[in-house]
Amino acid sequence: MADMQGARHWNENNSRSFLDYGRYFVPERERQIDMIADLIPAAPGGLLVELCPGEGLLSRALLERFPDSRVLALDGSAEMLEQTRQTCRNHAARLTTGAFELSQCDWRTFSEAPQAIVSSLAIHHLDGRQKQMLFADLAAALRPGGLLVVADIVRPPSAAGLAIAARQWDEAVRSRSLAIDGDLAAFAEFNRLGWNYFRNPDGEPIDKPSSLAEQLAWLSEAGFTEVDCIWLFAGHAIFSGRKP
Ligand SMILES: C[S@@+](CC[C@H](N)C(=O)[O-])C[C@H]1O[C@@H](n2cnc3c(N)ncnc32)[C@H](O)[C@@H]1O
Repeated sequence: MADMQGARHWNENNSRSFLDYGRYFVPERERQIDMIADLIPAAPGGLLVELCPGEGLLSRALLERFPDSRVLALDGSAEMLEQTRQTCRNHAARLTTGAFELSQCDWRTFSEAPQAIVSSLAIHHLDGRQKQMLFADLAAALRPGGLLVVADIVRPPSAAGLAIAARQWDEAVRSRSLAIDGDLAAFAEFNRLGWNYFRNPDGEPIDKPSSLAEQLAWLSEAGFTEVDCIWLFAGHAIFSGRKP
């Protein structure tokens, strides 16, 4: 999914690359942010947690959509955390940021049980077992009725599914490149970087997307109800579960 050059862990080069190209490379990025926010029931006050906010567009949308809520945004990149603070500067009083390592367990208890936990394009850096443990820990951390919403790339189990996802992602980046800049320079960069995971799914050890079916099952096993995928396109899915 990125120019990782065989790296096993996200680093600040990856952050800079994503900051430069995320707006071209993420299919239907604005609609995805809207849909994630739409899934969260309006409730006065409360804590919303975003795991791996990147430049903070989703955190900002949540702060705007839920003016009584606070957002805790956790990321492993100092540059991304600074970007999140910049993006959310108009809501600084309701934003807390913190450094964390997604795969570790030390951050998975919160002083206040969150009303919702969201994450976009990050959990695929964990392997299947780590995802299962994460979902179980987040189910335990949420308040009753709380929601987990994951937006991420998911791995189609069939060759035909991979080919369709690859083609759709190319088409999406091509369209965004033309719509944003009026040329195909960003699309050319997408190809040069080999960003389309679905064209070479075993090429980058940093990317470990699981299938959608597996992840929905892991949410159910973790105790979530109302487990569902509400959107899927170009190998990118938004899925969620509610803590009973
Ligand atoms: C592809 S970006 C996605 C950013 C943002 N959520 C979005 O959708 O635009 C991945 C984000 O996850 C963070 N990240 C990746 N692996 C991580 C890890 N193991 N621990 C903590 N943060 C990590 C990166 O710093 C980056 O902000």
